[in-house]
Amino acid sequence: MTDLIQDLKTPVAEPGTGQVKTGSAVSRVDGRAKVTGDARYAAEYAVPGMLYGVVVSGTIAKGRILDIDTEEALLLDGVVDVMSHLNRPKLRSFDIAYKDMTAPAGSPFRPFYDDRVLYSGQPVALVLAESFEAARRAAALVRVRYDEEDHDTRLLANLGRAYTPRPLKAGYESPPKEKGDADKAYHAAPVNIEAEFYHGVEHHNPLELFASTVIVEPDGHLTIYDKTQSSQNSRWYVSHVFGLSKDKVTVRNPFVGGAFGSGLRPQYQLPLAVMAALHLKRSVRVTLTRQQMFSFGHRPETVQWVKLAADRDGTLRSIQHEAIAETSQIEDYVEVVVNWSGLVYACENIKLGYKLVSLDQYTPLDMRAPGAAHGMHALEVAMDELSYALKMDPLALRLKNYAERSPADDKPYSSKELRACYERGAEKFGWSQRPLATRARKEGSEYVGWGMATGAWDALQMFARASAVMHADGTLVVSSAATDIGTGTYTVMAMIAAEAMGLPLERVTFQLGDSTLPAAPIEGGSSHVATVGSAVAGACEKLQLTLLRYAQSAPDSPFRDKRLKDVEFAHGRMRLKQDPHTFISLATIVGRAGRERIEETYLMLPNSLKQRKFRRMVHSAVFVEARVDEELGVVRVTRVVSAVAAGRIMNTKTATSQIAGGVVWGISQALHEESHADHRFGRFMNHNLSEYHVAVHADIHDIDVVFVEEDDRIVSRLGAKGVGEIGLVSVAAAVSNAIYHATGKRIRSTPITPEKVL
Ligand code: MOS
Repeated sequence: MTDLIQDLKTPVAEPGTGQVKTGSAVSRVDGRAKVTGDARYAAEYAVPGMLYGVVVSGTIAKGRILDIDTEEALLLDGVVDVMSHLNRPKLRSFDIAYKDMTAPAGSPFRPFYDDRVLYSGQPVALVLAESFEAARRAAALVRVRYDEEDHDTRLLANLGRAYTPRPLKAGYESPPKEKGDADKAYHAAPVNIEAEFYHGVEHHNPLELFASTVIVEPDGHLTIYDKTQSSQNSRWYVSHVFGLSKDKVTVRNPFVGGAFGSGLRPQYQLPLAVMAALHLKRSVRVTLTRQQMFSFGHRPETVQWVKLAADRDGTLRSIQHEAIAETSQIEDYVEVVVNWSGLVYACENIKLGYKLVSLDQYTPLDMRAPGAAHGMHALEVAMDELSYALKMDPLALRLKNYAERSPADDKPYSSKELRACYERGAEKFGWSQRPLATRARKEGSEYVGWGMATGAWDALQMFARASAVMHADGTLVVSSAATDIGTGTYTVMAMIAAEAMGLPLERVTFQLGDSTLPAAPIEGGSSHVATVGSAVAGACEKLQLTLLRYAQSAPDSPFRDKRLKDVEFAHGRMRLKQDPHTFISLATIVGRAGRERIEETYLMLPNSLKQRKFRRMVHSAVFVEARVDEELGVVRVTRVVSAVAAGRIMNTKTATSQIAGGVVWGISQALHEESHADHRFGRFMNHNLSEYHVAVHADIHDIDVVFVEEDDRIVSRLGAKGVGEIGLVSVAAAVSNAIYHATGKRIRSTPITPEKVL
C-alpha cells in the first residue's frame, strides 16, 4: 500500500456502545464517517501527478469507426494523450480474456477492442489530461467518423425471433419442465383470467458515480480504488485482461455509494483506467458521468403473459407464465423471471417459459431483485385479477392456495413464515376494513384503494473465508474481502464477531473492501449475511477454541479440563459457565501466550448436500394504500406495510432500512422509473436524473416494516437469510393492485404514469 494514500481507519462503533446482541437495533458503525465526508469513495483518492481520464461516448448504435480526429483535443493545454482502439497497447491476454466472475454466456463487451460499434453510448476514446477540466473540454473536441449500419433496438417489434437462452450463469435456473397439463386445466376450470404485462427499461442510479482510481506504485504495483460490489472480482478481471499476476494488483472498495447490481460486473472505466495507467506509467482516475452510467447495463425490457385458472372456491387449477426479455448481440443475459410462479402457490398444473431477443444494445445487468421484480409483479397482479373474477378477497385467495411445499419441485421449504407475514401485515395495515368493491372510497378529490401482493426471493449462501485476530490490547479485528454497498456489512459483521467473542462492539472492527483479504463472494443476491456472516462466526468459534487452549496451558489453569461448551465469552473475558467468577480476560490470554496477536481463519463452505433437499426462500406480504386523483392522473402511495420473513434478523435497524429502501424503490418503480429509447438512434434519451424520474421525499409517506422471525439453520449457521432484495419485490404489484381497487382501472405495465391513469 502506498504511503501517499491516507485511508480512513476501519469504521468502529462509538465508545460506550458496549455489549450488543445480534437481533438488536444498532446504528451503523460507518455512519459518522459517511455523514461527515470522512468516508472516501473510488473517485476521491488522489496522488500527486495523477492523470484524469474522460471517456468519449459513441453516438451511433451499430457500425464501424472510420477514424478518430484527436488533433484539436491534443492541442489543449494539459492534455497528455487520447487513447482508443487505434493506439491502445497490444497485450495477448487483452484479446482473449475480458471475463468477469458474473459474466453471462457469450462474449463480454471489450472496450477499445476494435473498430466495431455494438451499441449507442459505447466508449470510443479516452482523453487523459493533467486536470479533469482539461480532459472534459478535450473530450468534446474529439471527432469520430463512423460507417453507420442499420440497427434494431426494438423488443416489441422483434418478439417473433425470441430464442431460448444459453443458461450459463451462476445462480440461474432455467424454467422447470411443465407440471401436469396446464393448458387443459386452464380450459376445464370455471374461472380463468389472462393478462399481458409490459415493463420498460430501468437504469441503476446509485448516488456515487462509477469511477476507478489506478495508482501506480513506485515498484509498478497497481493499487486500484474501484466502485464495485466485489474487490476480488475487479482484481481477477484486471489480472485476466492485462495478464498481471495476482500480487501485482490490489483492488480496494472500502466504501461504495450504492450500486443495486450495477457494480456486480466491472464497468468499462476500470479497464480503460488500467490501460491508460500501464501505457503512460502514471496514476489515472477515470470517472463516468451520470449520462454514461446509462450505457453499461440496465433492467431489461420484458413482456410477460400470465394465465391463471381456479375453481369457484378459489383453488388454483392452472398457472401459466411466459416472458420474453431483451439482451445484447454479444451475451445472453438471463434472469429468473417466470420460475417464481412455480414456487409460491400450490398448484398441480404449472407451465413456464422464458426467451430472449437480442438487440443492438448493451447487455442488461442485474438490478435489485433481478427477475423477481418483473416476474412477481406479473404473477401478483394476475392473482389480483383472479380474485376479482372470483369475487374473493385478494388475501383470502393467497391463503387458499398457500404452498406448504414448493409446488414446482415438491421440496419442503427450509423455513417459511409467509402465513404469519400475511397475518401480521394485514393486522398492522387494517386490511379487514377493506371493502371488496372498487371505487368504494373517495376522500376529497382522490379515490382511495388498498392492494396487496406476495413477495419472494432466494435465500442464497455462497462460500467465504474470514479471519479473526485477537490482539493483546483486547481488540478484535475480523476481516473478509466483503463489500458494504450501504447495506450495513461493517456493522453486522462486527456485531456477529463481538457477540461470539463477548466483546463490547467498539472493541471490534471488521475489515472489508480489499482484494487481499480472505476470499469473499460478490455482494449480491442478498447473500452476504448468510455467507460472510457465517464465515465470521466460524472464524470466531475457532478463535474461541484456540484461546481456550492457550488459557489451559497455564499452570493450575482453572480451565484445564474444560471444553468449549463449559465456557462462555462475555465482557471481554472467558469464564466458566458454572462459576462466572472464574474468568480470564482475552487480552490476558494473548499477553500470557507471549503474543501480540492470535489469529484464526475459517473457510465456510455451504452444506449443499443438506441445502439442496430444501427450497430456500425469503418471503414478504406487502400492503399498500394508494390515492388516485382521476382528473390529474396523479397517484400517491400514502401507506405501505411490508411484513418480511427472512430468517433471523441480525440488526433490526439496518435490516429495517434495507426493507424501507426497497419499498421506496418499489414505489419509484411503480410510478416513476423508465428509460425511454429513441429507436431511430437506438439510444436512451432521458439519461439523467432530471428526466429519469426517481421517487423523491415528497413521493414517500408512511412505510412500516414488520419482521416475522425465522431461525433457519439450513440456510446458515446464524439462522439468518438475507434482506436486500425482498424489500423491493412485489411493492409495485401491490401499488398497481391498490390503484385498481381505488379506480377499477387495471394497469399492467410500469411505471404507472399519469397518462395511463387518466
Ligand atoms: Mo444485487 S442485483 O444482487 O446487487
